[in-house]
Amino acid sequence: MQTDFLVIGSGIAGLTYALKVAQAKPDKKVVVITKAQSDETNTKYAQGGIAGVWDDVNDSYQKHIEDTLIAGDGLCNEKIVEIVVKEGPERIREIIKWGAEFDKDATGDYSLGKEGGHSVNRILHHKDVTGKEMERAMLQTIQALPNIQLITHCFVIDLLTQHHLGYLVTKSTLDIECYGVYVLNLVNNEIEKITAKVTVLATGGNGQAYRTTTNPIIATGDGVAMVYRAKGRIENMEFIQFHPTALYQPGVSPSFLITEAVRGDGGILRNKTGEAFMEKYDARKDLAPRDIVARAIDSEMKKNGTEHVYLDCRHMSQEKFIHHFPNIYEKCLSIGIDVTKDMIPVAPAAHYSCGGIKTDEHARTSIRNLYACGECASTGLHGANRLASNSLLEAMVFGHRAYLDSIKRFEEVDDYLSLGNNWAGNNIPDWNAEGTREPKEMILITQSLKELQQIMSDYVGIVRTNVRLARASKRLDLLFEETEELYRSTKVSPQLCELRNLITVGYLIVKGASFRKESRGLHFNTDYPEKSALVENIVL
Ligand code: FAD
Ligand code: SIN
Repeated sequence: MQTDFLVIGSGIAGLTYALKVAQAKPDKKVVVITKAQSDETNTKYAQGGIAGVWDDVNDSYQKHIEDTLIAGDGLCNEKIVEIVVKEGPERIREIIKWGAEFDKDATGDYSLGKEGGHSVNRILHHKDVTGKEMERAMLQTIQALPNIQLITHCFVIDLLTQHHLGYLVTKSTLDIECYGVYVLNLVNNEIEKITAKVTVLATGGNGQAYRTTTNPIIATGDGVAMVYRAKGRIENMEFIQFHPTALYQPGVSPSFLITEAVRGDGGILRNKTGEAFMEKYDARKDLAPRDIVARAIDSEMKKNGTEHVYLDCRHMSQEKFIHHFPNIYEKCLSIGIDVTKDMIPVAPAAHYSCGGIKTDEHARTSIRNLYACGECASTGLHGANRLASNSLLEAMVFGHRAYLDSIKRFEEVDDYLSLGNNWAGNNIPDWNAEGTREPKEMILITQSLKELQQIMSDYVGIVRTNVRLARASKRLDLLFEETEELYRSTKVSPQLCELRNLITVGYLIVKGASFRKESRGLHFNTDYPEKSALVENIVL
């Protein structure tokens, strides 16, 4: 297949981009591919909402910028923070135009929620299922655009670059170019080639690298791993955000989230003795930034020998709770927890990847004709710790910016070809599966995945040490060798590709964590408990 614009991922980032580019270029073809059904994305599970400066009496761009910078712990790119905060409200107005509904209060104004690290109420939400509503509105809007083709159940394996034309491509190769992707069509089990003048990665997060995560099973870091294999730049992978309050349900994966907005409305964290412990850790108590709350919970669990703490909502108005959080109320009730009478058992879970594919302010990656936006990208907004509800905002702002820049890039390539020049993308060979056989034992893949998740959770979690990182590194080396051998000799399957990608992501997280000889934001290493004077991004 050949297309003009190729988008990988049907979450908020991919759909924002696709919609805009399809509207701007109605005579060009936009293909959006996703490995699952169209709405199975991290986006769909977003609860708390989307942050944006909306209240011009109590809020200001400056306040949102400062909150983002404080949460990011000295590592945010200030220019990018300003861009996102200032362009954000316009992007929110757009999604409202496309049909997304956010809750309003009795006066008819948008009801603004609060989460950790925000100095004022600024989070627009749709009950406690904001992402589902945004995803619904976007999918419905793109249906009206005939030049968008959404292909589901199509797994992207790798990016096409000069490497596939027989050239040696290394980290020091200048002008690596992307010509599209190889995909595994999950309907007919064939490997196909899709070439495109512009390719956009919007492949989301990598929470599945950990045993306990809020992320659905699609979150396997595929985009990051593909760019790394293609010798592109990856940044700050050590900053994995653990959400403080996932519902504690041993053996259930992914973990159900109890949105931070519950604490924004007055929920209080308590340890097993009933003590409201957050005041010992931070003046902002339960609404301190996430890295601080997650570490405090981790410390309380270790001190008390428990596997969870509690979120106490019993003092909150039952009517208000059910109105704002109907999904959480029902979920808790379904497992025998009446939040008006019982405390909710909660524990931290891997939630968000702050680092990722390094991009500039136009969402360009280090590979030509390849853009990245959304959770898979590292734009510089989040620094060492993301401010709650800044992620949906970032995805929309950079989906838009990628669109603006990539239509210019597309025109350059198009002009060059209209002069009769050959496009290297035409010469990419078909996939070669020679010498591979059907996999005999799925257990080799499923067991390795469990091992990987165990290693990452035990040694590369909320608190790290040099010894734990060195151990993780050794164990990942072995998993890497075994999996590469399997990949060389067997027919590819999505399970095998995801395992391979997660091992790469695990390796990048461990590498980033080992290079960072300090504790900052989400990365806490007891061997270097202080922040270093040298503020740097770790690029791999
Ligand atoms: P996603 O929405 O994850 O979409 C990724 C897409 O890429 C999917 O379509 C997937 O199928 C596709 N894909 C991936 N790999 C491949 C491949 N190899 N081949 C083909 N397709 C592929 N953020 C906020 O700002 N506010 C919140 O309230 C909030 N709450 C959250 C609650 C939960 C439970 C979770 C998990 C996250 C939450 N976040 C929140 C974070 C936010 O939802 C995500 O960061 C954001 O939705 C990511 O959007 P995205 O478009 O980048 O990726
Ligand atoms: C939540 O609702 O607590 C999650 C918000 C986020 O991850 O930004």
